Amino acid sequence: MNSRARNFLRLLLVCIVLLVVQYLTTIDVPNHLDSLIPPFKNLKSSVVDDGRRMHRLTVDNGPTGRPPGAVDREPADYEDTSTEENKEHEKDIPPFLGIPNSLFRSPYHRYWETNCSGLFQNDDAVIKATNVMIKAARVDGKVPMPSDESFFRHTQNCTAFRRTRNYPERPNSKEEEDYPLAYIIATHKEVAQVERLLRVIYQPQNIYCVHPDKKSPPDYQRAIIGLVSCFDNVFIPSEVESVVYAGYTRLKADINCMSDLLEKPVRWRYVMNLCGQDFPLKTNLEIIRQLKAFKGHNDINGIIPPSYIIGRTKHHFIVREDGKLVSTSERKTPAPHNFTIYFGNAYLAATRAYVSYVVNDQRAIDLLEWSKDTWSPDEHYWVTVQRYPGVPGGYPNATWDSLARFIKWGDIHEYPKCIGKNVRAVCVFGVGYLQHLVRLPHLFGNKFHYDFDPVTLQCMEEMLEYRQRYPGSIHQFLSEFPNTTLIWQNHTAYLGD
Ligand SMILES: *[C@@H]1O[C@H](CO)[C@@H](O)[C@H](O)[C@H]1NC(C)=O
Ligand SMILES: *[C@@H]1O[C@H](CO)[C@@H](O)[C@H](O)[C@H]1NC(C)=O
Ligand SMILES: *[C@@H]1O[C@H](CO)[C@@H](O)[C@H](O)[C@H]1NC(C)=O
Ligand SMILES: *[C@@H]1O[C@H](CO)[C@@H](O)[C@H](O)[C@H]1NC(C)=O
Ligand SMILES: *[C@@H]1O[C@H](CO)[C@@H](O)[C@H](O)[C@H]1NC(C)=O
Ligand SMILES: *[C@@H]1O[C@H](CO)[C@@H](O)[C@H](O)[C@H]1NC(C)=O
Repeated sequence: MNSRARNFLRLLLVCIVLLVVQYLTTIDVPNHLDSLIPPFKNLKSSVVDDGRRMHRLTVDNGPTGRPPGAVDREPADYEDTSTEENKEHEKDIPPFLGIPNSLFRSPYHRYWETNCSGLFQNDDAVIKATNVMIKAARVDGKVPMPSDESFFRHTQNCTAFRRTRNYPERPNSKEEEDYPLAYIIATHKEVAQVERLLRVIYQPQNIYCVHPDKKSPPDYQRAIIGLVSCFDNVFIPSEVESVVYAGYTRLKADINCMSDLLEKPVRWRYVMNLCGQDFPLKTNLEIIRQLKAFKGHNDINGIIPPSYIIGRTKHHFIVREDGKLVSTSERKTPAPHNFTIYFGNAYLAATRAYVSYVVNDQRAIDLLEWSKDTWSPDEHYWVTVQRYPGVPGGYPNATWDSLARFIKWGDIHEYPKCIGKNVRAVCVFGVGYLQHLVRLPHLFGNKFHYDFDPVTLQCMEEMLEYRQRYPGSIHQFLSEFPNTTLIWQNHTAYLGD
């Protein structure tokens, strides 16, 4: 082998190592932190079977257990005059043909001329033509989107902003009015996408805590302040964290929001934590119906940690001067109060009673304190509390199943393969994936990138608008909804005092 070939091989090896590192850093973080190497002792095995991707590992038998301000518009083509109840009868529901006068159309977000109906039906010609259109719009690989600065200006006249964006000012139905929800949205960039997410999940009876990363630039912070200032039921938590990748502050951001949410007058039933790149796959009413089917349980998944995950809570981790979290050789004491440490998802749907436990119970507080110097505590904390005896909404069996979030990991073959692009082993959905998104049982999907494929967002908005008009229409896509075949179905939830 000559030296050129050897150099080539060396380069190849370096590339492979870099790819592995990319693959492992999968959490939503500011780009400048993306390159962090997780301190796994055994890099190789974690690539093969990182627990987050072991989607099907189930039981482990571990312990315990119309808004007044809205623009006047012609009734959309699909609007029928039948009563609310009749709308639920599927035979009366017209097929989804796209929403020509969508409430989501707005001067703030470019409207793309496409056939959403064709996209949802996997019409090849429509998908190809749409992709050509998106590709042509990209500048340096990205579709231009409204800047934080321009969004801030829009929010300077809240009346005009809310009216132009058709933010609803009344609940859609009695059922929804009677079942308020709380949301936490952890964000660090691109307020235009955050606003789009907020708009699509916004209901006046709900409450929203938007957490901007303290490290984000001033234009971003200003835009977020501008946005939340336009609503009584959207707020920034009283304590804002500088979010360190895989660090405690990511978890603390959610807990800061939870603590404030409990103090608000809204009697919300469940809380869901989102990030800026999530998007709903269900309407507000559909989400409520699925949550009701949980029968007082939390949707918090997790399993007994695989061996290579245990190191995350075995050693004392510190945040280095450069802002990276690194392991030390100092061993940690066992978790307080006999907590068994589980390993799960950072995303949840949890009852108010569970949140109250997390915020107020000394054991939960002690576990949080103990978790401060661990790797990615947002992936062990929720499930560890969830499975502690006597915790409201908990259930004894460990499962990797969850409806809170659909994430298409590169190596989970249970779901159709990525159509879009892969970023750190996670699929960023493109219009070709809409056919699948509309048929999933999950409440939210991750990831969506406005600057990669804004048409996916636009078509999801139109689909959700259609499904909101016709509450029974979801059954065209999901025969069984809400999902009742969950592992905790036969368990009776402890609802709290
Ligand atoms: C959109 O696509 C669907 C499915 O291919 C097709 O039936 C429909 O006619 C198309 N609509 C328009 C307006 O082109
Ligand atoms: C805000 O917008 C509304 C509606 O467009 C308009 O009537 C009002 O005069 C504006 N207020 C200010 C202060 O510009
Ligand atoms: C932990 O569990 C052991 C045995 O089950 C028990 O003796 C001990 O009191 C428990 N400790 C705490 C702090 O609950
Ligand atoms: C859940 O765990 C309990 C206690 O370990 C066990 O008896 C039960 O069979 C499990 N349920 C399921 C559905 O696996
Ligand atoms: C219901 O949810 C469980 C858990 O995620 C999943 O395994 C099952 O396929 C879902 N069933 C339906 C009909 O969506
Ligand atoms: C719940 O109980 C029913 C009736 O006994 C049974 O058919 C079903 O399989 C159980 N579901 C689970 C998830 O254990």
